[in-house]
Amino acid sequence: MPATLLDGKALAQTMRAEIARRASDFARTHGRKPGLAAVLVGDNPASEVYVRNKRKACQEVGLESWLHRLPEAATQSELLDLVARLNADRAVHGILVQLPLPKQIREDAVVRAVSPLKDVDGFGPENLGLLVAGHPRYLPCTPFGIQQLLVRNGVNLDGEHVVIVGRSNIVGKPLALILMQKAPGANATVTVCHSRSRDLQDITRHADVVVVAIGTAHFLKADMVRPGAVVVDVGINKVDGKVVGDVDFDAVQHVASAITPVPGGVGPMTITMLLHNTVEAARLQAGA
Ligand SMILES: NC(=O)c1ccc[n+]([C@@H]2O[C@H](COP(=O)([O-])OP(=O)(O)OC[C@H]3O[C@@H](n4cnc5c(N)ncnc54)[C@H](OP(=O)(O)O)[C@@H]3O)[C@@H](O)[C@H]2O)c1
Repeated sequence: MPATLLDGKALAQTMRAEIARRASDFARTHGRKPGLAAVLVGDNPASEVYVRNKRKACQEVGLESWLHRLPEAATQSELLDLVARLNADRAVHGILVQLPLPKQIREDAVVRAVSPLKDVDGFGPENLGLLVAGHPRYLPCTPFGIQQLLVRNGVNLDGEHVVIVGRSNIVGKPLALILMQKAPGANATVTVCHSRSRDLQDITRHADVVVVAIGTAHFLKADMVRPGAVVVDVGINKVDGKVVGDVDFDAVQHVASAITPVPGGVGPMTITMLLHNTVEAARLQAGA
């Protein structure tokens, strides 16, 4: 029997309706909408699409959104000046600096410059530190979306062995931290693998839940998955003009008990969690 689909599109819709209600409560109480400022440097076509989709999603749930553009040749200090202005602007509750940045600008300097209370991507050192310490404030959006996709589909993580393939700062590493929290919807036993891991197949075959985030089309094969395991595919790859994930979906769906599709799995959850974090940021900044 093919695996149950973990439908990120449907869950994102449900969660966005909840977020819209909270945003409208906030606007009624505080006289202004929660607001997200996006910063786009240069003209990377993929970044243009990501920022457009994020702004559209803001509008749909009743959040204010602004777009600040800087040219490809912008200097680091010009960008830091803009971030400082947004940090000081009381109408702006969340700041999103779209990555990657042109090479003359140090990403870590910019990420660190965003006020921790407005760091709705959760990439800054204060928010990551809070997560490590077990007192999370804003969770990074893609791993937060993965956790919600699992938990809200009834996947029990408590005591389960989750194997994450990929250790990036935006997916694998923060996901491990989220799933090992001593908290409901977490409490997992987590193993993180990467390109230097030996005997990967032996490790993934021992998992109750396998998450793949490496950026290689169809990487996870059926013989790498224990029958009945849950499989989460974070990858976004283009093959012959088609978007495919890191999992060999056609084969793995006959081994797994539940699986995320690509597209329509993790992708829609990422923007949803950004909206969630922006409303949380507005509430925190308003002392609500
Ligand atoms: N759906 C979404 O919203 C969303 C969000 C973010 C990313 N993504 C997608 O997720 C994928 C990963 O993104 P990322 O930013 O995390 O990638 P990344 O920064 O390139 O990191 C890739 C990770 O995969 C590991 N890796 C690469 N090849 C491997 C192999 N053969 N075996 C085991 N580990 C391997 C790398 O190991 P080393 O550390 O040893 O190099 C690294 O840790 C991409 O397809 C990206 O487009 C999707």
